[in-house]
Parts: sequence; C-alpha cells; structure tokens
Amino acid sequence: MALKFPIFMDAQSTTPCDPRVVDAMLPYFVEKFGHPASRNHPFGWEAEGAVDAARAKIARLINARDPKEVVFTSGGTEAINLALKGVAEMYREKGNHIVTTAIEQRAGLDTCKRLERLGFEVTYVPVQPNGLVDVDDVKKALTDKTILISVMFANNEIGAIQDIAAIGKLAKEKGIIFHTDATQATGKIPVDVEKMGIDLFSCTAHLIYGPKGVGALYVRRKAPRVRLAPMIDGGGHERGMRSGTLPVPLVVGFGRAAEICEEVMPEESARLGKLRDRLQDAILGSVDEAFLNGDPERRLPHNLNISFAYVEGESVLMGLNKETALSSGSACTSSTLEPSYVIAALGASAELAHSSIRFSLHRFNTEEEVEWVAKRTIEVVRRLRDMSPLYELAKEGVDIKSIQWKAE
Ligand SMILES: Cc1ncc(COP(=O)(O)O)c(C=O)c1O
Repeated sequence: MALKFPIFMDAQSTTPCDPRVVDAMLPYFVEKFGHPASRNHPFGWEAEGAVDAARAKIARLINARDPKEVVFTSGGTEAINLALKGVAEMYREKGNHIVTTAIEQRAGLDTCKRLERLGFEVTYVPVQPNGLVDVDDVKKALTDKTILISVMFANNEIGAIQDIAAIGKLAKEKGIIFHTDATQATGKIPVDVEKMGIDLFSCTAHLIYGPKGVGALYVRRKAPRVRLAPMIDGGGHERGMRSGTLPVPLVVGFGRAAEICEEVMPEESARLGKLRDRLQDAILGSVDEAFLNGDPERRLPHNLNISFAYVEGESVLMGLNKETALSSGSACTSSTLEPSYVIAALGASAELAHSSIRFSLHRFNTEEEVEWVAKRTIEVVRRLRDMSPLYELAKEGVDIKSIQWKAE
C-alpha cells in the first residue's frame, strides 16, 4: 500500500478517533440530544441511559466495582486537578503533605506547585536512571502529615511503567489516599483499581482513540470512601464532585473507545510492541551514540524514546516534520526549547536531554510506516552529524568536555 504523508507517530500527545467511536457518537448530536439530568421526559432518560452505559464501560476497563465511582471531567488535566486539589482541601485538617514524583506530567506538577503556594508541602521523589521510582523512596518520604501519594502509572515521554500495585499496598498500609495519573496507561496495558489499591485514577478519552474534551476520575467509594472538595460548583452533577452538563456525545465516544480498547488490548499491544522493537532495532543498529531512554522492559509497548548525541532533538524534528509527526519532550513543552525535565530527571546531561526524540505508535500505524520512519530518521541524524563540528571532534578522539570554549 502506498504511504500516506505525513505519518503520525506522536500517539502519546493524542490519538486519532477510531471511526467506530465516531459512529457511536453521531446520533447523540442531533436525534438523541437530551440532557442527562432531565429526569421527567424520554429525551433525558435516553441521554442518561447512554451516559450510564458509557460509565459502565469505563468502570469495566479499569475494574471499578461500581460505575458510580467514575466521575466525568473535561479531560486528564481536570481529573488530576480535581484529585489533588480535592483531596488537599477535604483532608487539610488531617495533614498538609503530599508525595509525588519528579516526572509527573505538567498537570500534576503544576497543581502541586499551586498547592505549595497555598501552604501545602510537597515531596518530589526522584526516579532511578531507568525512570522507575524506588518504592522505598516513596516510603521514606511519608510523614504523619501525608494525606496523598500521587504517582503516574506510565510516563508520557519514556513510557516507564511504575510499580503501582506496590505503591497502592504501601498507601493502604499507611492509610494514605493514593492517586495515579493513568492517562497514558489506560486502554494500553492492564490496569486494575481494585487489585492495585488505587483510590483515585485519572484518564482521558483522546489518548485511547476517543474524542478530545472528555476524561474521567475514578473515585473509590468503599474501603476507603474517598471524599473530594469539588473544584466547580453548580447543579451538583457527578455526585456533587463535578457540576456542569455532561457532553453526552463525548461521553458516549469515551465509553465506546474504552470498550474497543478492552477487546483489542492483548493483540494490539503485542503488535505495537513488535513494531516498536523493529523501529528501535533499526535505529540503534545503524546510529552510533544513540541512547534508549527509560527502562527497556517496564515500558509502554508503543513508546520509544531515544537521545541522539551531538544533534538537537528539534533539528531532527525539523528535518522530518513535513513527512513525519514525532515529538521531542512532551507535547505540552514542545513549544519551548527547554530540555526535557523527564530525561534530565534520569540523570542525563543537558545535551542528551536536548536531543531526545519520542516515537509513539498507534492502532493505525503500519509496518511500511515504521520502516520508512526508521530509514528517514537515520538519514536525518547522519546528515546533521555530518554538519556537526562537535561530532567530528569526538570522532577524532577529542574529549568534548575538556574543550575550553573561549570568546575572543
Ligand atoms: C501523563 C499525562 N497526564 C495528563 C495529561 C493531560 O490530559 P488531557 O490532555 O486530557 O488534559 C496528559 C496529556 O497528554 C498526559 O500525557
């Protein structure tokens, strides 16, 4: 089949909507447009039924006991804000300390920064060079004032999958609420709020082939019953935790996307894992001084993150971007030229943090696309290095770090 350009391999920033999801949503724009809180006529009942069915599908995907534990939001960012701020406000009397990690997505980090300005104390647990958090470090960070542990399930840049079950167990032992930002893991790898001891779980539809503008926060109702202060006041929808009319078509699409992910996950993750490995082997086998970022095993199957020494990540992207959509750093930071804080947190030099490229595959990528992207990436990196005096010096055996740079 002829290749179609540009090729999209940036599926950890967003995913295309699955056409089956769009089909499920369409009737809810024109024919079935009711308000799900209109309790007194069939338009409302129909919309409420559709929302309940979607809620049940999401609950199933994450193994929530009760669909009522799923609270719809506008996306992952809002779910994370609600989890962190909601716990902080509700449990303030109990304590003012939060434990999180240095590699959370901006929604988590920036919410914690705001909470610090409001008088909370936050410990940012570092990660090991492979991107994994040492559970003992989380344990050591806890104090008698800790009210919340928030650790992301899988990282958006390097795909590293944390030992969520071990952290959940620790949180239970200590009686501390446990939130995980699972926006990147949901629908891609098995997640289980019951088995893993998760109390709050954030996810978003647009990363699982659903529409943009809808997400969810799972809020545990039993053992323990988690209570949250709402961020948005109003009609008391979503059990009082998130007021506002639900976007029924988006909610329906989210439910359908979750259902499809559940059906295809074993086959899809194996297929994407194989394609990813091919891409990785082709690139690392042909380019010297290219380094894999993150743990090679405990990583999302569709993620590949490589730093190419002596070239800027942005230059590689520019060399490719008419034909291939990739990302350097996370989607939210790619408008700035700051090095990736995630790669820096692994202990990499600023140069290597500047030179990281993320390839992330999705449901509709093909073998031909992977071969093409591998070939073109190798060509672009080689061309950039041919123009790099630093690379030339390094090849001549000069220790770059020993060079005294001097302005005349
Ligand atoms: C790890 C992580 N958390 C949170 C978010 C924010 O989710 P949303 O875009 O739905 O607000 C993203 C988005 O890419 C993400 O990758």
